[in-house]
Amino acid sequence: MSERVSTHGQWSSRFAFVLAATGSAVGLGNIWKFPYITGENGGGAFVLVYLVCIALVGIPIMMAEILIGRRGRASPINTMRMLARDENRHGIWQVVGWSGVVAGFIIISYYSVIAGWGLAYVFRSAAGVFNGVDAAAAKSIFDGLVLDPEKLLAWHTIFMVMTTIVVSRGVRSGLEQAVRVLMPALFVILLLLVGYAMNTGRFMEGVAFLFKPDFGALSAGGVLTAMGHAFFTLSLGMGAIMVYGSYLPKDASIARTSITIAVIDTLVALLAGLAIFPVVFANGLEAANGPSLIFNTLPLAFGHMPWGAFFGTLFFILLVFAAWTSAISLIEPAVAWLVENQGINRVKASTLVGVVAWLLGIVTIMSFSRWRFEFNFAGEKKTTGLFDVFDILTANFMLPLGGLAMALFAGWFMSRQSVVEELGMGDRVGFRLWYYVVRYVTPVAVVVVFLQLIGVIDIKDWK
Ligand code: PFF
Repeated sequence: MSERVSTHGQWSSRFAFVLAATGSAVGLGNIWKFPYITGENGGGAFVLVYLVCIALVGIPIMMAEILIGRRGRASPINTMRMLARDENRHGIWQVVGWSGVVAGFIIISYYSVIAGWGLAYVFRSAAGVFNGVDAAAAKSIFDGLVLDPEKLLAWHTIFMVMTTIVVSRGVRSGLEQAVRVLMPALFVILLLLVGYAMNTGRFMEGVAFLFKPDFGALSAGGVLTAMGHAFFTLSLGMGAIMVYGSYLPKDASIARTSITIAVIDTLVALLAGLAIFPVVFANGLEAANGPSLIFNTLPLAFGHMPWGAFFGTLFFILLVFAAWTSAISLIEPAVAWLVENQGINRVKASTLVGVVAWLLGIVTIMSFSRWRFEFNFAGEKKTTGLFDVFDILTANFMLPLGGLAMALFAGWFMSRQSVVEELGMGDRVGFRLWYYVVRYVTPVAVVVVFLQLIGVIDIKDWK
C-alpha cells in the first residue's frame, strides 16, 4: 500500500509532536480536575488506581491511537473509515470517530468555561485581590465569579475566541514554540507552590493523603472516575491524539513518544496534588470541595507568599495556556473532518465549531447558579447541574468506550502485519508486550471497571 499523506500537513519533527501532544495532555485535567476528584474520592487509593490505569490502559491505548492516526493520515472519522476498509472490516468502525467528535464538543463546551475561571483569576491575582486573604474571603471571591453568569459568559467567550483563532490558522503554527517555553515554566511554578506547601507545616499530611491508599474510602464510582481520568488527562479515546498522530512523521517512535507524554502528564498532576492538599489541610478546608478546590486554595497560598501577586498572576496565565493547548486539540478532529468532507476552509470550519461549542457552554455556565437540580445517588441527596452530567458522560463513559474500541481495533481488527509495520519497533519483545497488553489486559481492565460499577463484581472483594 502506498503511504498516505495528510492534507493538513505534518509536524516538523518527532519533538514537535511530543510538544503538541504534551500540550494537549497537560491542561485543566492535571491542575484543576485531578486534585478535586482525588479530594472527592478519598485520596491514596484513588491515586493508585489512576496510576495503574495510566500504565496499563493509558499508555497502551495512546500507542494504539497514534498508530491508527498515523496510518490513516486523516480526521478520526475518515481514518477509521479508511482503515476499516483497508483491513476488510465493517464501516461501522467510523462510529468511533463520530463519538469522538461529539465528546470533543461536549468537553470543550465546559472546558472553556473553566478556563474562563482561570482567565478571571489572572486579573484578580494581578490586581492584588488575594493579598492576605483567608479561606472565607477566597471562597467569596470565587462565588462572586461563578454565581454571576454574565461574567462567566464574558470569560468563556474570550477563551473560545482564543481557541478558534489558533485552530483556524492550523494547529502547528505557534503551538510548538509556545509549548516549548510554557511547559517548563509551568513546571517551575508548580515546584515553587510545592515549596510553599512544604512550609505550611501540613506537608506530610498532604503526602499521606495522596499516597497512602485507603481502599475503604474508594467507591465503585470512584474506580470508574480514576480510570476515566486516565483517559481524560492523556486526551485519549476521542481522536485528539489520533488526529495529532495523523500529522506525525513516519520515522518517529510511537512507544517512546507515548511514554514521555504520559510521564510528563503524570508528574504535573502529582505536583499539583502536592501543592494543593497541604494548603487545604493547613487552612481547615474540605478536600472534597469539588470543582472549586484549586480556586479556593491557591489564592491562600499566593495571598501569603512573598511576591504572591506576581507568582499568582504567572500561575494563572500558565494555567490558561495549558488549557488553551488542550482546547485546540479538542476541536481539531471536528475541524479536520469539516475541511476534508465539506470542502470548507479552516477558518470557516473552526468558526462553525467554535460557535456551536460556545452555545453549548452556556449550559455549563448556568449549571453553577440557576440550572441546578437535586437527585438521589446511592441514598445520598446530591445537587448537581448539567456540567456534572457532561463531565461524567464524557470522561467516565465516552472516552473509555472510545479508547476500548481503539484498543480492540488495533489489537484484533487490524492485521498484525499492519500494526508491526506502523509501530516500527520490529516484532520483538517490546512489541509483543504491548500487543499482549492491548489485546487482553487493557480491554479486560476497562470491562472490569464497568462491571464493578453495575455491581456484577466487587473489586473490594479481591483484597
Ligand atoms: N487532556 C486534557 C487535560 O488534561 O486537561 C483534556 C483533554 C484534551 C481531554 C483533549 C480530551 C482531549 F481529547
